[in-house]
Amino acid sequence: MRIPYIAGNWKMHKTRAEARSLAETLVRDLADVGHTVMVAPPFTAIETVAAVVSGTNILVGAQNASSALEGAHTGEVSPLMLKDLGVSVVILGHSERRHTYGETDQLINAKVATALGESLNVILCVGETLEEREAGRVDDVVRTQLEGGLAGVDRSALQRIVIAYEPVWAIGTGKTATPQDADAVHGAIRTRIAAMYDERAADELIIQYGGSVKPGNVRDLMAMENIDGALVGGASLKAETFVPIVKFNA
Ligand code: 13P
Repeated sequence: MRIPYIAGNWKMHKTRAEARSLAETLVRDLADVGHTVMVAPPFTAIETVAAVVSGTNILVGAQNASSALEGAHTGEVSPLMLKDLGVSVVILGHSERRHTYGETDQLINAKVATALGESLNVILCVGETLEEREAGRVDDVVRTQLEGGLAGVDRSALQRIVIAYEPVWAIGTGKTATPQDADAVHGAIRTRIAAMYDERAADELIIQYGGSVKPGNVRDLMAMENIDGALVGGASLKAETFVPIVKFNA
């Protein structure tokens, strides 16, 4: 039985005061939710949000983490520092990191290994660009990203990994993959994980969909067999939109 997992990626939004206010509202409005809920504020607001959600059912995530634990890495943030703030999960391989900041599967894999080594959970993002989709390369691209990102990750560590399928063309564009299209890719991801590990690992894997998830489309997405959660960007910035997404089945 896969427990639904809804996460909010706040990206580069919110001062500490704004973050505190949203976190306080979420704590109040989501107290009765039984499934997994996570918010990933910008680094600068993590400590503030962690203090608000501490002891509640809301997890705190980070949007990125270094592949190194410490050293001469100007501008990077170590998994050790994130744990120190109360972070339990890191989003890695987000398409904005891949495409705007040039992160390769190799770097993402090193980040995954370091985060897992520090007992953090990981949301590993995969997804194709519009060009890749139009060229019929979706399975190819997702397979390369999965195999690259998970290289060397053993079966027991896989339990701490969530995969987020985020088609790049659906992020922040208002275009959502149809539930059927998304489910087909999620099914292919599960099949690939079965080949890389085993059927049970594939069966237990939580696969989130991300890309213009809104209160109006979350229910249809979550109704699909292979869609177990959502990684929400824009609509996670306001309680009015994030709360109904989290409570999709209320
Ligand atoms: P939007 O929900 O704004 O499309 O962003 C999706 C996303 O990138 C979440 O990580």
